[in-house]
Amino acid sequence: GERLDFRASKQRLLVVANRLPVSAVRHGEDSWQLEMSVGGLVTALLGVKEFDTRWIGWAGVNVPDEIGQKALAKALDEKRCIPVFLDEEVVHQYYNGYCNNILWPLFHYIGLPQEDRLATTRSFQSQFDAYKKANQLFADVVNEHYEEGDVVWCHDYHLMFLPKCLKERNSKMKVGWFLHTPFPSSEIHRMLPSRLELLRSVLAADLVGFHTYDYARHFVSACTRILGLEGTPEGVEDQGKLTRIAAFPVGIDSERFIKALELPEVQDHMKVLKQRFAGRKVMLGVDRLDMIKGIPQKILAFEKFLEENPNWRNKVVLLQIAVPTRTDVPEYQKLTSQVHEIVGRINGRFGSLTAVPIHHLDRSLDFHELCALYAVTDVALVTSLRDGMNLVSYEYVACQESKKGVLILSEFAGAAQSLGAGAILVNPWNVTEVAYSIGYALNMPADEREKRHHHNFKHVISHTAQEWAATFVSELNVTIVEAQLRTRQ
Ligand code: ADP
Ligand code: G6P
Repeated sequence: GERLDFRASKQRLLVVANRLPVSAVRHGEDSWQLEMSVGGLVTALLGVKEFDTRWIGWAGVNVPDEIGQKALAKALDEKRCIPVFLDEEVVHQYYNGYCNNILWPLFHYIGLPQEDRLATTRSFQSQFDAYKKANQLFADVVNEHYEEGDVVWCHDYHLMFLPKCLKERNSKMKVGWFLHTPFPSSEIHRMLPSRLELLRSVLAADLVGFHTYDYARHFVSACTRILGLEGTPEGVEDQGKLTRIAAFPVGIDSERFIKALELPEVQDHMKVLKQRFAGRKVMLGVDRLDMIKGIPQKILAFEKFLEENPNWRNKVVLLQIAVPTRTDVPEYQKLTSQVHEIVGRINGRFGSLTAVPIHHLDRSLDFHELCALYAVTDVALVTSLRDGMNLVSYEYVACQESKKGVLILSEFAGAAQSLGAGAILVNPWNVTEVAYSIGYALNMPADEREKRHHHNFKHVISHTAQEWAATFVSELNVTIVEAQLRTRQ
């Protein structure tokens, strides 16, 4: 039948995510500086333009006093952001604990924390309680700002409890939930002590979205096997209520990157980089310093390549830009020292008085520097052990129209399903295979590079963040109309 399309009018959209697009730094009692937040979720949602959007989330900072809270809310209001204030203890138990020490590693197949297993088991319940409490606080703020007809779009593993909280407050609210990470096999999800409650809460949403068809299928089979519900091609049915479940692969605002390459600032950065690395091939890694990104594996593969190809030593350099993230979580601290140790060893082994094979930076780059790096490098290395989508790979492709560099991409990133045709796909655990692929990429003839790049470029410019959001919201509207029709019948 006819498809309803709500895209024409500017619909009010409340985006709810743990992380706001800006994070706050305090400068005085009532003075705040706002900095761009880093991460795939923020990148995707910044590309969403056609709605009348308000963003509800945490500003990444503890603000215990009322003066500070008021001043911050005012500063954020100019960016159409609404803060959720979480106290230090909640952040510790909910964000560092339940979200980033339990859900994140589990959803990426790393498993539950191994060390100190008993302590983790004991603190599990209090962390889950904090998680639920934090989700209730988000629900309070949504409720306060909700107007009839708004679409409420909840994001990511931090807020799996939110759809239920919202529907309990107002059953008419249009609620969507989207997961930016993989949803793991039901055999993995089963390990979670809170497996039932989380699934049930997500099912309270009207529409549930994932990056890939596989993640959606895993979710449906978790509902079937763990909750005993019926899964249909449309979604999951519980006592006559259908929750729609589907895949909506995200993209980037590709035009923003393509246009940026013309800016004089970006061109200047490009010139400097080209001079600096003249005569050498340059490989690039850009990641949050996260255990899922396979950074140690990537560097070890590069070492193997240098070991086996003495003729390439001094002729190739790896730039690894790794922005520190979630630094209060012990696993992340360990990873930082591990990466530093490996980089130091390899530079000691293959460096000379004037050059080292790996430049490792623990920082983020601003947008212009990042675009310049994407544009001038010969190979990008994305070796995630698991990754919901991975937008760095999209950004690299968007910036390579003139150079036609090679993307080496983990088969365990969601992006492998969309950029697989043009990228060299690798198993990041197989250091021999990645080392071989590095050689293959560096030696690839121009016509093959061009063909591969063209494939991926076409995809990146036609599957944008704008399109992703429009499709999700439109589908959510349709789902609700269909549900109303069903109940009238
Ligand atoms: P994740 O969602 O796990 O953070 P993605 O690859 O999907 O991974 O998205 C990461 C986003 O963060 C991209 O938009 C990328 O440009 C940005 N980013 C990651 N690392 C850095 C860095 N070191 N400097 C600047 N931006 C970064
Ligand atoms: C991933 C998650 C996002 C998160 C981002 C950065 O992209 O899916 O939800 O915002 O990483 O992590 P952080 O903990 O700093 O928000």
